[in-house]
Amino acid sequence: MAAKPSAIPLLAPYKMGKFDLSHRIVLAPLTRQRSYGNVPQPHAILYYSQRTTKGGLLIAEATGVSDTAQGYKDAPGIWTKEQVEAWKPIVDAVHAKGGIFFLQIWHVGRVSNSGFQPNGQAPISSSDKPLTPQRRANGIDVAEFTPPRRLRTDEIPQIVNDFRIAAKNAMEAGFDGVEIHGAHGYLIDQFLKDQVNDRTDQYGGSLENRCRFALEIVEAVSNEIGADRVGIRLSPFANYGECGDSNAEALGLYMAESLNKYGIAYCHMVEPRMKTVAEKVETPQSLLPMRQAFKGTFVAAGGFGREDGNKAVEEDRADLVAYGRLFLANPDLPRRFELNSPLNKYNRDTFYIYDPVIGYTDYPFLDSHHSVA
Ligand SMILES: Cc1cc2nc3c(=O)[nH]c(=O)nc-3n(C[C@H](O)[C@H](O)[C@H](O)COP(=O)(O)O)c2cc1C
Repeated sequence: MAAKPSAIPLLAPYKMGKFDLSHRIVLAPLTRQRSYGNVPQPHAILYYSQRTTKGGLLIAEATGVSDTAQGYKDAPGIWTKEQVEAWKPIVDAVHAKGGIFFLQIWHVGRVSNSGFQPNGQAPISSSDKPLTPQRRANGIDVAEFTPPRRLRTDEIPQIVNDFRIAAKNAMEAGFDGVEIHGAHGYLIDQFLKDQVNDRTDQYGGSLENRCRFALEIVEAVSNEIGADRVGIRLSPFANYGECGDSNAEALGLYMAESLNKYGIAYCHMVEPRMKTVAEKVETPQSLLPMRQAFKGTFVAAGGFGREDGNKAVEEDRADLVAYGRLFLANPDLPRRFELNSPLNKYNRDTFYIYDPVIGYTDYPFLDSHHSVA
């Protein structure tokens, strides 16, 4: 007799605090730039519900916490009443299918320009170090950045508070929790990493000081909505947006250990092999020390397929595995992994276009009459 297909480690149930997950395959946060005017749109109802399974965890795309948080056209926000209302039917659709839905909340910091900022002001950051123009992930456009303004020490509590309010708004919209975006060179990472952070106040210098802003946000958000509804994403090894660290391992470990005192739902880390957003490289570095230091649920992401995802769970290197591009292109990814079916290929050219259907909700499901009885 063949083994039951559900015997694969990725399909084993998992209890994440109060949430009963039916499997380990998580939808990674994916910016899609289809929230016109920063307001989530009805076409996101279909997009997210296509990727929902009963008991599956989904993390919604990076969503701005305030009007200074934005740096990408048509990325969603959650600081206005209109945005909160617009999220509600999307969350309801995911819940109707039994999904567990966290919202990723972010502030881009200096990865912005004055065109995205209120009154055309300079973006804010930990530093006033400018970011050189970068080719966008679509490989064509070049993003231009306005040199940032260094936040004054006395302004920092206001930004922490913006994250708190965003989390409160996410609860009002019906989300099950929030994921604080501390990865990929955005504002929180601009504080964490010594390539950017050149502050001399209590938010810069030592590891403890550079991690203070992130941990104050974790604390404020946890106090607001309950730690059991809070996750954080970190990418200690990445250096996107000229935001690297001279000792990534020490940084990751310090954060993993410090997070333990808040009892948050999960810590989500990006694999060191993701040296650029799109490419895997061989590296001897590993998330294992952080996985072992962190006491809660550990989510790993970055370059996983079916086989190495199964291995990560089996070898206890992660509790959950988040899939980005494969889930983007395969709305029924958990089912395809279960059946070990071929996967749709993703099309990079349509990742960030504004079309409400193309490259968004038109990736095909497994044809039901091709599946085995
Ligand atoms: C189109 C696209 C949008 C992304 N948007 C986000 C985002 O909003 N927040 C985030 O933390 N990571 C984002 N990422 C990174 C993914 O969550 C993921 O970490 C990355 O794609 C590597 O995982 P994968 O190999 O499974 O795709 C994005 C990646 C892609 C391809």
